[in-house]
Amino acid sequence: MAVALMAVAMTTRSILLRDVDHRIGRLLTQETREFANFVEQGVDPDTGTRFTEPRRLLQVFLQRQYSDPDEELLGLTRTAGPAPAVLRQPRDIAEGVALHRDREALARIFASDARSGTLDRPRGEVRWAKVPVRAAGDTPPGAFVVAFHADGEQAIAAEAFRTQLAISGVALLMTTGIGWAVAGRILAPVRLVRTTAEQLTEQDLTRRIPVRGRDDIAALAETFNAMLDRLERAFAGQRRFADDAGHELRTPITIVRGHLEVMGDDPAEQRETVRLVTDELDRMSRIVEDLLLLAKAGRPDFVAPEPVQLGELTADVFVKARALGEREWILDGVADREVLLDPQRITQAMVQLAQNAVQHTVPGQRMRIGSQEAEGRVELYVADSGPGVEPADAEVIFERFRRGTNRRGRTGGAGLGLSIVKAIAEGHRGGRVELRPTEGGGATFVLVLEEDR
Ligand SMILES: Nc1ncnc2c1ncn2[C@@H]1O[C@H](COP(=O)(O)OP(=O)(O)OP(=O)(O)O)[C@@H](O)[C@H]1O
Ligand SMILES: [Mg+2]
Repeated sequence: MAVALMAVAMTTRSILLRDVDHRIGRLLTQETREFANFVEQGVDPDTGTRFTEPRRLLQVFLQRQYSDPDEELLGLTRTAGPAPAVLRQPRDIAEGVALHRDREALARIFASDARSGTLDRPRGEVRWAKVPVRAAGDTPPGAFVVAFHADGEQAIAAEAFRTQLAISGVALLMTTGIGWAVAGRILAPVRLVRTTAEQLTEQDLTRRIPVRGRDDIAALAETFNAMLDRLERAFAGQRRFADDAGHELRTPITIVRGHLEVMGDDPAEQRETVRLVTDELDRMSRIVEDLLLLAKAGRPDFVAPEPVQLGELTADVFVKARALGEREWILDGVADREVLLDPQRITQAMVQLAQNAVQHTVPGQRMRIGSQEAEGRVELYVADSGPGVEPADAEVIFERFRRGTNRRGRTGGAGLGLSIVKAIAEGHRGGRVELRPTEGGGATFVLVLEEDR
């Protein structure tokens, strides 16, 4: 702004000065033209005839002429000396600057060949124009001179320039002040975001930015807060996961240690302890394997889908599930079509479901395994005729380390099985796992996969 205002002021100044120049030029031309007319047409009022003498001509002309302020109209006539004689109007021009007193300058103007010029004097600039008078015969020549003291007009331009500079300065100060205040107001929320971000630590993600208004900054604050919500949830989930994992692993360790500490010398008792300890260690290693698998679940290479014949896959799963326990296994129905899925992972998930079903049933109970098509999706299911899942448990059993209230058979489960199934299902595009009641009692777990073609 300073540069712009300065440029405006400078431009204005030069325009004003050029205007002054033009005006003075026009004035000088006008005066000289009037004099030239008078020389041609003027008559002596006393005699009624044309002028014969330059001095008289100049005298009469000057008497009739009105000069502007800052303007001097002079008649010069030759004398014997170097300086001309001066005729002037009885006008007030400041004594110090008046040209009629500056004999030397007048002599120079009188002698000059030029018709106009500029005198640079310490007291100010003088623009002049001259019309020589030459009467008939040998009469000494004279000259009409009009002089304009330009410094007054120039001072006005300079004054305007100074005023404009002063106004610009004030305007600049005001805009700076207002700009400062407005920028401060606009940036205050940004600063708030920054300080909030600085105060956030991994331990304390609870801080939020207060959202005010409905502008871009408010939207930014909202986005930022939403990001913090996600971060907080992710951190909390991770922490809970680590806690639960630690807790789950501590139990078998405690059991193993307990058994080893009380183990006596009796070989039969020792064999029994070794059996129990090995059992616990197996359980531990299963938990660790499950945890490793779940840790991998977020990665993009967790599932590697390929075109698979769903009928064959269902039959394979059925054969593997049948080995899990003495039940009435039924291969319910197979959808015979090609589907894009990861066969290893899907088999793993189905075996998990079958395992759960076995755990919640007793020998001889009916289990159905099958696959079917449904509205652009395919479904693989394991339906048991056990006690089913309590409605209150239906939501939570898919979470890590969560077990339901209905637990039959061995109590060994860590509660990771269904989270693995869920991770595998959701690893497939549009995939999910659903829990439905079995007709006639029992739970049916269904892997729903999008059929993309
Ligand atoms: N077929 C089923 N019928 C009734 N309840 C079931 C069935 N499958 C799972 N559940 C309930 O869901 C809970 C969670 O199952 P999940 O497979 O995640 O853990 P788990 O079987 O207890 O342990 P893990 O599978 O890690 O050995 C179970 O504790 C059980 O209460
Ligand atoms: Mg299980």
